[in-house]
Amino acid sequence: METVVSGIRSTGNLHLGNYFGAIKNFIQMQHHYNCYFFIADYHSLTTHPHPTDLHSSVRRVLVEYLAAGIDPEKSTIYIQSDVPEVAELYLLLNMNAYMGELERCTSFKDKIRSQPDNINAGLLTYPTLMAADILIHRATKVPVGKDQEQHLEMARTFGNRFNRIYESEFFPEPYAFNFGSELVKIPGLDGKGKMGKSEGEGNAIFLGDSPEEIRKKVMRAVSDSGPTEPNAVKPEPIQNLFDLMKVVSAADTLQVFEDKYNDCTIRYGDMKKQLAEDMINFTAPMREKINAISADEDYVRQVARLGAAKARESAQKTINEVRELIGIRKF
Ligand code: TYM
Repeated sequence: METVVSGIRSTGNLHLGNYFGAIKNFIQMQHHYNCYFFIADYHSLTTHPHPTDLHSSVRRVLVEYLAAGIDPEKSTIYIQSDVPEVAELYLLLNMNAYMGELERCTSFKDKIRSQPDNINAGLLTYPTLMAADILIHRATKVPVGKDQEQHLEMARTFGNRFNRIYESEFFPEPYAFNFGSELVKIPGLDGKGKMGKSEGEGNAIFLGDSPEEIRKKVMRAVSDSGPTEPNAVKPEPIQNLFDLMKVVSAADTLQVFEDKYNDCTIRYGDMKKQLAEDMINFTAPMREKINAISADEDYVRQVARLGAAKARESAQKTINEVRELIGIRKF
């Protein structure tokens, strides 16, 4: 059975971008593959180095994984820092990761711009840690959104390079995966770019948002005064509203607004109202489960413990073989 690995950073509550880019696939994949889903708390330290927030964020993502439908009986759910073998593999992969290729990585260049006062080595080596996450279970499929494509390419590079240096075929090649074949990028509500935790207030719809919060954010989404000619190409903010509707609304609802756009009778207020209600209906079951699971302290702790033990068993196997291949032996 093929092995699947994916993770989400503990940098805030999960949003619809995380859901449609990653979690939706996690839920389907757990029925068909050997799945490891984790919370990338080490990765979150590259941008969010505050101890007070860390524990509650990790716990929140764990609760949201469960509320969204990841089943701890089917998948291994764990916290990255509970598996020290990941950190060891990260160190070993860093020995063969070149400065130039790390500096060229788009996410690193973005971070140089967004946090110029804290360009730390963790940011530079973010792709090697991510490769370690994936290679530690020798995974082949990695369900992620479009923004992670380059990181997957680097994971293949590091795995293949290891194989070459140590004359083995130890690491298989991991590929980004989405059931719909194309990787997805869910837009935010600010009229430009993707939905994200750090893209500004009101840009993201979180899985735990209340109906009032969702209505408020969607009604404030960027739009314009409407099309002036039939069948016009949609400007980006409008296309974004349609893209969001495509994932949360019924196909015939979407078609009604497509037709209205094309004959210039659309009223964006009506479209936003519908979009907000569909988002509320979509997230409602998760919102209720988030509260219930979060209150069950013992269950959450038990899931984390069980997951850590299962993940470590797999990770230890890999790291023992890696040490052997490299020539690190016990005296
Ligand atoms: P993170 O925490 O930024 O995002 C988690 C997952 O959600 C997807 N995603 C989106 N997909 C579509 N549209 C969006 N607007 C959107 N926003 C976020 C991301 O593509 C991702 O799949 N580097 C990873 C975490 C990670 C990881 C790994 C993933 C660490 N190690 C190993 C896979 C395998 C990240 O920053 O995700």
